[in-house]
Amino acid sequence: MCGIAGYIGKKEGLPIVFGTLRKLEYRGYDSAGVAYFVKRRKSGVKGVKVVKTVGKLDNLEQAIFDKKSSLAAAAIGHTRWATHGPPNEINAHPHWDCKKEIFLVHNGIIENYKELKEELLKAGHHFRSQTDTEVAVHLIEEYGFEKALKKIVGAYAFAIIYRKEPNKIYFARLGSPLVVGVGQEEYYLASDPTALAGLVKRVIYLKDGQRGVLSLGGFKIGPTRPKVEPLDIDPEQARKGDFPHFMLKEIFEGPEVVRSALRGRLFPERNLVKLGGLESAADKLKKIRRLEIISCGTSYYSGLAGELLFEELSELPAEIHLASEYRYRKDPTQKRAACVFISQSGETADTLAALKKAGSRGYLTLGVVNAVGSSIARATEAGVYNHAGPEIGVASTKAFLSQLSVLALMSLFLSKNKKSKTAKEVMRELSAIPGKIKLILAQSDKIKELAKKYLKYKNFLYLGRGYNYPTALEGALKIKEIAYVHAEGYAGGEMKHGPIALVDKNFPIVAIVTQNGVYEKMISNLEEIKARGGPILAIATVGDKNIGKLADDVFYVPKTVRQLEPMLNVVPLQLFAYYFGALKGYDVDKPRNLAKSVTVE
Ligand code: AGP
Repeated sequence: MCGIAGYIGKKEGLPIVFGTLRKLEYRGYDSAGVAYFVKRRKSGVKGVKVVKTVGKLDNLEQAIFDKKSSLAAAAIGHTRWATHGPPNEINAHPHWDCKKEIFLVHNGIIENYKELKEELLKAGHHFRSQTDTEVAVHLIEEYGFEKALKKIVGAYAFAIIYRKEPNKIYFARLGSPLVVGVGQEEYYLASDPTALAGLVKRVIYLKDGQRGVLSLGGFKIGPTRPKVEPLDIDPEQARKGDFPHFMLKEIFEGPEVVRSALRGRLFPERNLVKLGGLESAADKLKKIRRLEIISCGTSYYSGLAGELLFEELSELPAEIHLASEYRYRKDPTQKRAACVFISQSGETADTLAALKKAGSRGYLTLGVVNAVGSSIARATEAGVYNHAGPEIGVASTKAFLSQLSVLALMSLFLSKNKKSKTAKEVMRELSAIPGKIKLILAQSDKIKELAKKYLKYKNFLYLGRGYNYPTALEGALKIKEIAYVHAEGYAGGEMKHGPIALVDKNFPIVAIVTQNGVYEKMISNLEEIKARGGPILAIATVGDKNIGKLADDVFYVPKTVRQLEPMLNVVPLQLFAYYFGALKGYDVDKPRNLAKSVTVE
């Protein structure tokens, strides 16, 4: 996902915009650039300068600061994650028009760029790049800002400067996030509010269709009235603290993240769950007879666990769907269904598209979202925020725990009998989960040793049953993402239907064999694997005296109710993936080819 930054005010614009781009680095990018008004100390603003580089931001920093860089008044900047045209300097943003009067950066995709480009070529425009973005700046040159926007089909967040208007930055948002930072006689633009943490205390989360202009005297936004809101992201949260990587910091935030999700919502002593964000849909929820859960990636795996939670605790049939598949199906959603959209970023294009489809068919749409004010949060009728704080690491870790916490709360909230033995047990145990995660984190060195021991392997199979099947899937995804190792998550019962053919001494199995209703079945799996010489790393329950006879290595986790096991059992798997990638020397916060928020389809 691309990153956009902008600044206009009394300070030097370039360092501020560059610093904002630094904070957007985690989103993944392959090139970057800035455009700024050159300011002379005596004679004032003198034209626009553009600098673009390929690769890491260090290259851009070298290019704009090492030379005697001109002072900058208003400035815009961009980190590009290539969608149209390879990563190179020409395709990097900003792009400009034929006369070099208009300079534009963009996040999103212009779906009809080919036909627009044809139209502009016929009108005599000439293009330098292969990007869809460059079409936008020529469109503005040909038709003007407002009319050009109307001709675009797709998603955009634009920041634009005009050579002839030195103290203005124009912007527009449709489908891709863009936030205005409101300072004291200074204004910012960023693709993500976390990049403004520490710079401003008030922001405007632009809504789709909103556009306007920032100037030294203030801002104008239309066509709908902008809402200035507090930015409650503590800068500290957006920094690593004393951890080497955001990913490790965020794994260690697990206990606090679960507490934040439960705070003010879970009251076991009163058999009560309060979810203010669902109150507005309370009447409709009473009529719901089915839940469709729709999401991607890690959020899909938390949704898979959610499917079991809703069926067991709410006694509602539930079905999980991959958002990227749901949107192409005829109409899988049953009547009297509510659709639950799970998304950490709240900007995932596939999930948003599925949401628009479900919404257009009149289903009640609910969100489980971390990013306040994000597109999915705004587009759903009601929902529950995770309150997990910014997740900077590209691989989702704390968000997964938070999603499981919220889904457990929702399944209890929708339960018809909160006084049942099971509901009471789950409520009580939910409160104890943060302390149990802490016990696991205290043994992180043991997991680091296990990662070292298994570092030589190139393939893994992660096995689990019941609530631990989604855990196995998520564990496998983590090591794929972070250590670029091939790993498959599989239902234990499926081993005999094929994958067991893979097992030999070079094919380790990570098996979740905690003591629950499927323990004996998992033990049988291990016996079959052992007989074929496969190395076994087991996640087992503290006090299990049996597992050590079968597994080559065991990591013990505290006992909990089966409904909440994923919240504990995933933690050693997250750490295992983290240490695996870190020991290989990979960039665990920004893994290759990945973006934090996949806003392209
Ligand atoms: C998680 O580790 C991945 N980076 C990715 O699968 C992610 O979960 C997926 O893209 C969905 O993102 P969302 O939760 O922001 O919608």
